[in-house]
Amino acid sequence: MTSAIVYLNGRHVPAAEASIGIEDRGFQFADSVYEVVLVVGGRLVDRDGHMERLSRSMDRMAFASRPDIAGLTAVLDGLPGRNGISDGMVYVQVTRGAWARNMSPGSAPDGTPPTIVAYARALAIPRRLAAMRPLHVLSAPDRRWGHCDIKTTALAGNMLARAQAQAAGADEAWLVAADGTVTEATAANAWIVRDGVIHTRAEGPEILGGITRRRILALAQDLGIPTRIAAFRPADVAAADEAFQTSATALITPLASIDGVAKSDPAGWPVSTMLFDAYMRFAGAD
Ligand code: PDD
Repeated sequence: MTSAIVYLNGRHVPAAEASIGIEDRGFQFADSVYEVVLVVGGRLVDRDGHMERLSRSMDRMAFASRPDIAGLTAVLDGLPGRNGISDGMVYVQVTRGAWARNMSPGSAPDGTPPTIVAYARALAIPRRLAAMRPLHVLSAPDRRWGHCDIKTTALAGNMLARAQAQAAGADEAWLVAADGTVTEATAANAWIVRDGVIHTRAEGPEILGGITRRRILALAQDLGIPTRIAAFRPADVAAADEAFQTSATALITPLASIDGVAKSDPAGWPVSTMLFDAYMRFAGAD
């Protein structure tokens, strides 16, 4: 459930009183960017990375009118406490604003403000890899657009791939580009471990550059775990020693299977376990 007190356009209001106009461009055109930030012990994890990405997304979308990032950061920092949330997530979305429906973003009347929404939600955050429920994954064609590196709310392609996987009895889809390589999961980045080396795809327009991805790469370096930034195929995932996906809310979620090929028990995965423990320490988990 959404928290009791949400932030909307400069005010903190009860969730039931928060409303957005029917001509809001987030609603009409997905003309809108967002972030999801992990909260552990009331603190936002990798907050600055998320705020920088929010700014980059607004740059890429050429938002003329935008929130003050320092002020918005303070709002987000305060949301878990206002709502009595220790572990969970903070969601923030910024749209280009609301005005009479017109495809052209430049048709905004002067002074049109962005729409800014933020809320916090409690989530159970496991402290150990072995406590994560492993996912059954299906590979599915990546039919999204050419700017997947912008974190917009235009997520129909992601949602339909997830639905396709779930209709087939799986939990999640790993998306496959025309060249046969895995791009990412529907809302997380994709990884495999082979002979002690972790592999993940390079950043580029075909994936969202995850804040968790970047953190895991830095932690791997600290831990002396070798890394290869390289694309891989579903068959490589099936053959890998370990496979997992990462996001602010998925943390490091292991795979139970891909395309019906079962993986081993993640409780015995040394590299994923080391990374999970290091990520929890980084997050300040008790
Ligand atoms: N999703 N790829 C996609 C398509 C995503 O939507 C996400 C995040 C990621 C991982 O990014 P990060 O590590 O910064 O969370 C990769 C969020 C959690 C969501 O939409 O709920």
